[in-house]
Amino acid sequence: MNSNIKNTIISKIDDKSLILAKNLIENEELVAFPTETVYGLGGLATSDTAVKKIFEAKGRPQDNPLIVHVHKDYDLTQLVCIDFDYVYKLIDAFLPGPLTMVFRGKGNVSKLVSCGLDTLAVRIPSSKGAQAFLKAVNLPIAAPSANVSKHTSPVTAEHVYNDLNGKIDLILDGGKCEGGIESTVLDVTCEVPRILRSGLVTISMIKKVVGNCVYAENKQTDKVMSPGVKYTHYTPKCDTILFDRKDYLKAQNFYDNLVKQGKNPYFLCDDIIYEKLSGNHLSLGITGEEIASNLYYRLLEGEKIADFIIGITVDSGSDIDNGIMNRMSKACKKA
Ligand code: TXA
Ligand code: MG
Repeated sequence: MNSNIKNTIISKIDDKSLILAKNLIENEELVAFPTETVYGLGGLATSDTAVKKIFEAKGRPQDNPLIVHVHKDYDLTQLVCIDFDYVYKLIDAFLPGPLTMVFRGKGNVSKLVSCGLDTLAVRIPSSKGAQAFLKAVNLPIAAPSANVSKHTSPVTAEHVYNDLNGKIDLILDGGKCEGGIESTVLDVTCEVPRILRSGLVTISMIKKVVGNCVYAENKQTDKVMSPGVKYTHYTPKCDTILFDRKDYLKAQNFYDNLVKQGKNPYFLCDDIIYEKLSGNHLSLGITGEEIASNLYYRLLEGEKIADFIIGITVDSGSDIDNGIMNRMSKACKKA
């Protein structure tokens, strides 16, 4: 038997499991925990050993930096420099919540967290489970999404187990993550904040609070980029294809042809466009919030029951669509 194989347990969040989580973290082991966006795979951010284990467990590329998570009463200035006053407005408006900010780091966590960059991404998640875990450990926790690299991000403890069983000791079970897509990543090292990854805190919400905000183009020449955006992501373990919603008739045709070949396809789409289609449906709902909340859950359901997922682009009218389409177009192959 391989002694590296761990007996992974899933536990609800209570005093006993929080003590175990704290012990594991202090011993440089990993703990998966729920947040309001997706489950995170947490390790002690100040430990090279723990951070290396995160990269190994996920099979994550070595140049894709991690976000450090802290509880709501943690003093961020222990970790980062706040260079612009607008950051305080963002903290007031959105934290705790699904907004990660990239600051100049102070060098107080393992260098492996930021993969050699001089910046550090920090986030204060809002979910009860995340806060309970972070309060119990009272230490900065480096955590990417708790999936094997490239696979769809997990939104339940069972999803985490399916990817990381045998690789980690503990999964704290806080039920289904309501947000459903990862946090917005915002570069706050410049005068105008720049969105590196879209999420539930949208450009219009940020503009309302600080006046201005732009999308980063993630060019090689940018001072701060989000290295993660260049990688394949979120892909389920079955065939996929993505159609534009104006091409819904082509999508129906594609579906019908698969059925003729004896295949079992499912549409992955919002309920508005589904009214024009017929066949199996992984329902995403109607509003931007609903669609974000359902996206990974349905992709992970789909990979179990479908042999082909036919995605259709969404148009909920909300600028959350930006974050949704960023994920959906990586999860599904282009038609
Ligand atoms: O909602 C979330 O953000 C979840 C939960 C667990 O908190 N975490 C998450 O982590 O999505 P991950 O590792 O899957 O994605 C982190 C993203 C990547 O795109 C990475 O490139 C970017 O944040 N990032 C991290 N540190 C950075 C830095 N110093 N500069 C620029 N981008 C950074
Ligand atoms: Mg991820």
